[in-house]
Amino acid sequence: MIRYLTSGESHGPELTGIIEGIPAGVPVSVDDISLQLARRQEGYGRGGRMAFEKDVPKIHSGIRFGLTSGGPIAMSLENRAYIKDEANWPVVMSIDGDGSDIEKITVPRPGHADLVGTQKYRFDDIRPVIERSSARETGMRVACGAIARNLLKAVGIEIGGHVLRVGSVGYDNWNDIRAIVDPLSKSGAENVFKNADESEVRCLDPKLSAAMVDEIKKRRKEGNSLGGVYEIIITGVPAGLGSYVHWDRKLDGQLAHVIMGTQAMKGVEIGLGFESGGLPGSEVHDEIIYRDENFQRKTNRAGGIEGGMSNGMPIIIRGVMKPIPTMLHPIDTVDINTKEVVDTRYERSDVCALPRAVVVIENVIAPVIANAFLEKFGGDSLDEILERYNPAS
Ligand SMILES: Cc1cc2nc3c(=O)[nH]c(=O)nc-3n(C[C@H](O)[C@H](O)[C@H](O)COP(=O)(O)O)c2cc1C
Repeated sequence: MIRYLTSGESHGPELTGIIEGIPAGVPVSVDDISLQLARRQEGYGRGGRMAFEKDVPKIHSGIRFGLTSGGPIAMSLENRAYIKDEANWPVVMSIDGDGSDIEKITVPRPGHADLVGTQKYRFDDIRPVIERSSARETGMRVACGAIARNLLKAVGIEIGGHVLRVGSVGYDNWNDIRAIVDPLSKSGAENVFKNADESEVRCLDPKLSAAMVDEIKKRRKEGNSLGGVYEIIITGVPAGLGSYVHWDRKLDGQLAHVIMGTQAMKGVEIGLGFESGGLPGSEVHDEIIYRDENFQRKTNRAGGIEGGMSNGMPIIIRGVMKPIPTMLHPIDTVDINTKEVVDTRYERSDVCALPRAVVVIENVIAPVIANAFLEKFGGDSLDEILERYNPAS
């Protein structure tokens, strides 16, 4: 099974990751990983840090001559902030010393991990909480996910995401979205992300894209922040990944777990999701037909998953991201030392990270789909898997 571990702080020297369980013989290049990392760093609404933080992965093990070896793959990503500001971050993040000469951060941001993190770990300084809870960590998660994504690509499974809503601007309904997305995903979900990447907010509708940019500009001027809703499509998934036989083998549950495990994500839907709760069954369930010697569905409101298993239709996942907690315009909070009400403090931050978060989600779900695939068709090498897996059968 594929599993990975990340380590590192936002302003420490680097992020480190080890992914293991990737079969041998999967083509992986630094460029493949860099592409996903670059996508994670591009999008309207980003903060100052992204302007100088260009992630290039260093691969330390597990890949030889462009192919995975079957062994653990270790990677690192330098934090440019640490290197660029050498008078500051190496001192603030020093391994040695007692930190008595370093200014403590004592003003927690509502909506962030700050306050509860200090209570839980008994810190009198919020800095260690800020450093590890930061979404900078998603850089390494994307790097690990990008490798799983290459395995999926080799068996014809593609993933692509796009933005549905930023703040108050978004599509009106399911059918409007399907009319734009379904024709694009017919030739594979990568077509969805490639088209969405043309927009600086990763929205496929040009008019909505422009309105979303205006919405972000407006909130930026106020010193405010925004979240929104995104959709991920996965194509080429054979029927029968996941299982109904036990709760923790359900594919939808596994997908929700990794999405909710990502910073700022507050909800997940599969297919029609929450909308299905307000409709009668006849307008929710997809009628089954038998065509071209295959069982198919007339519609895909289930979003490609029934009974915790992929049903052969494209998987459609939506998620909601809350507005960024760090805001230029202060709100009330309480100093953890003095217990007095104070304004929140501002540290360089995004206004709306949703266009970048879509890329994070595409990559964090890749290992879940890859694991479900390996469970059914797995082998030690890609060649062995391809002998076992015949999508036409
Ligand atoms: C791609 C991405 C970028 C983010 N950028 C910021 C940021 O610049 N400032 C900030 O306060 N929060 C940012 N967040 C959100 C926080 O990391 C998140 O709200 C925090 O860790 C608390 O976790 P929770 O929202 O899941 O409760 C970002 C999240 C993601 C996914």
